[in-house]
Amino acid sequence: MVKEKDDSDDGKEPGLTSIPGIGPGIASKLEAAGIYDLMGLAVMSPPALSELAGVGEAVARKAIQAARGMMKLGFMDGAEFDKRRADVHYITTGSKSLDGLFGGKGIESRAITEAYGAFGSGKTQLGLTLTVNVQLPKERGGSEGKAVYIDTEGTFRPDRIKQIAEGIGANPEKVLKNILVARAFNSDHQILLLDKITEMIKENNEPIKLVVIDSLTAHFRAEFSGRGQLADRQQKLNKYLHHLMKLAEQHNVAIYVTNQVMANPAMMFGDPTTAIGGNIVGHASTYRVYLRRGKQGTRVAKMIDAPNLPENEAAFFLTPHGVRDESPE
Ligand code: GTP
Ligand code: MG
Repeated sequence: MVKEKDDSDDGKEPGLTSIPGIGPGIASKLEAAGIYDLMGLAVMSPPALSELAGVGEAVARKAIQAARGMMKLGFMDGAEFDKRRADVHYITTGSKSLDGLFGGKGIESRAITEAYGAFGSGKTQLGLTLTVNVQLPKERGGSEGKAVYIDTEGTFRPDRIKQIAEGIGANPEKVLKNILVARAFNSDHQILLLDKITEMIKENNEPIKLVVIDSLTAHFRAEFSGRGQLADRQQKLNKYLHHLMKLAEQHNVAIYVTNQVMANPAMMFGDPTTAIGGNIVGHASTYRVYLRRGKQGTRVAKMIDAPNLPENEAAFFLTPHGVRDESPE
């Protein structure tokens, strides 16, 4: 995917006030609404900006155009594109087999990786393992960074983190300190927390390299459960996913999200389960894997969707030390 230039290239992108018509007063209004940079401004619509900033639509349109111009929104040349790909980083899953499914090095930055599957299939355990492994040095498969864990179901367990940390020979307390956990109480709160992450990266300079959202869809599913609400739910989910992608792109972060399945009675053969959010989530996710229980205590991951990888399967184990190739017994 070709994306716009952003602040992560050189770290000296001009601020909002470099745009004609936007003074410090308007800039702080925008910031209060979660728009911190030219990218945020460039993707706004003139009426939205006009309302938010209290300026006329003509001024708003000019400002947006200026921001787009400065961002060279849309295209970049091949060399620039190549340079961007070069700073992609990877996080090992803890299993060579599962890393192999993702092309060899685990999950990657500037991408959304979605794991969906039934309860107990290992979605949360993989997420917890990644929050530990992201802290590993590069040569051991990590990204030398911190993790954010957005917990919608109250499944974050510090004790599990400590066990997984011990498994890689790290100091459990230090590892725990590098994981920023927030409980999202509903979908609006979950959405709001994304802005917080951007803030943490930009203002506090936190070296966040991984964002886990467990689960991506549970709140949306619960809150928009009526028949007539499906379109609203999908629209909200769609917007959320776009924000996620923007976070991944702008700050070179890896994003791992979990998703539940629902029974699909229309399917007669194979595994009759479908991911919640369907195509909306599927299209936004860069990598999509389906997790299920396999034989003899294994878990099996199947690559459902990936830009340039075959539809393979990989087996792994859930152990006290997180995701591994070897059985815990
Ligand atoms: P839901 O969130 O309910 O949809 O499921 P999930 O896919 O998130 O499942 P999760 O990742 O929580 O996996 C739970 C499974 O992990 C359990 O059934 C156990 O098999 C395994 N598990 C969890 N903790 C441990 C542990 O300490 N040791 C071992 N060996 N397995 C564990
Ligand atoms: Mg779970």
